[in-house]
Amino acid sequence: MIVNKQKQKMTVTGVRAQKGGDPLVCLTAYTALTAQLLDDHTDILLVGDSLGMVLYGLDDTLSVTLDMMIAHGKAVMRRSRKACVIVDMPFGSYQESPEVAFRNAAQVMKEVGCDGIKLEGGIEMAETISFLTERGIPVLAHIGLLPQSINTSGGFRSHGQNKEEADRILSDAIAVANAGAFASVIEGTIEPLARKITQNIDIPTIGIGASPACDGQILVTEDLVGLFSDFTPKFVKRYADLGQQITAAVKQYSDDVRSGRFPGPEHCFTRHPLKKK
Ligand code: KIV
Repeated sequence: MIVNKQKQKMTVTGVRAQKGGDPLVCLTAYTALTAQLLDDHTDILLVGDSLGMVLYGLDDTLSVTLDMMIAHGKAVMRRSRKACVIVDMPFGSYQESPEVAFRNAAQVMKEVGCDGIKLEGGIEMAETISFLTERGIPVLAHIGLLPQSINTSGGFRSHGQNKEEADRILSDAIAVANAGAFASVIEGTIEPLARKITQNIDIPTIGIGASPACDGQILVTEDLVGLFSDFTPKFVKRYADLGQQITAAVKQYSDDVRSGRFPGPEHCFTRHPLKKK
């Protein structure tokens, strides 16, 4: 396993340069604590708008606000030193026009101090991606399944099942790469399509429910450690069951408090022997 211990701070240029090289290890982080735990082991920490569902219990990501993204972005920045930190632009903060996207993305960059932003969309977002990158804002694109568009794209399902849809997603990938995105997330597509996209664009692809052939992989951290179990997509591999461990610990604590076993003498302060009255 390659650990990021000796590694310099990962920049968007470093990510871009890793096309076809060592796989990029990417995870979501929404809090300072998670950022601290993941920083040494990841190339990219994504402050994803999935935080709306994972942390706030929302049904989808649509009502996540710019203020939420900025607050969580700042928390992650406080405890990450090496990973490249990217903050998601929430629904409604960039789709209207390139100018609106620039104003909101610039606010995120200034207030959070992150390395770049991510936005969802392909051909329809190419003009905005060019507008942002030409003005100093690095953009991570996101194509395939677009969680912010579930109301118009038929919900959470795998994309690229028919030729027309697969051709469109390939065109999206080419458009975002030509527009200047430094990398692109590919979410929820059939495997051969993600493989083909990876072979056909010159920026790194970061897969989630995509293909092992992608230049990197990303998962939602809470899915990977078993903390979020409302919905587990097929593409999640669970490496721990922290949810069960927390429930067991809390049950034990509750039993101890109710039975008077906690707190014990070792948890209580006594008067210091040398301390005067
Ligand atoms: O919001 C998010 O966490 C994401 C990743 C799943 C790619 O967009």
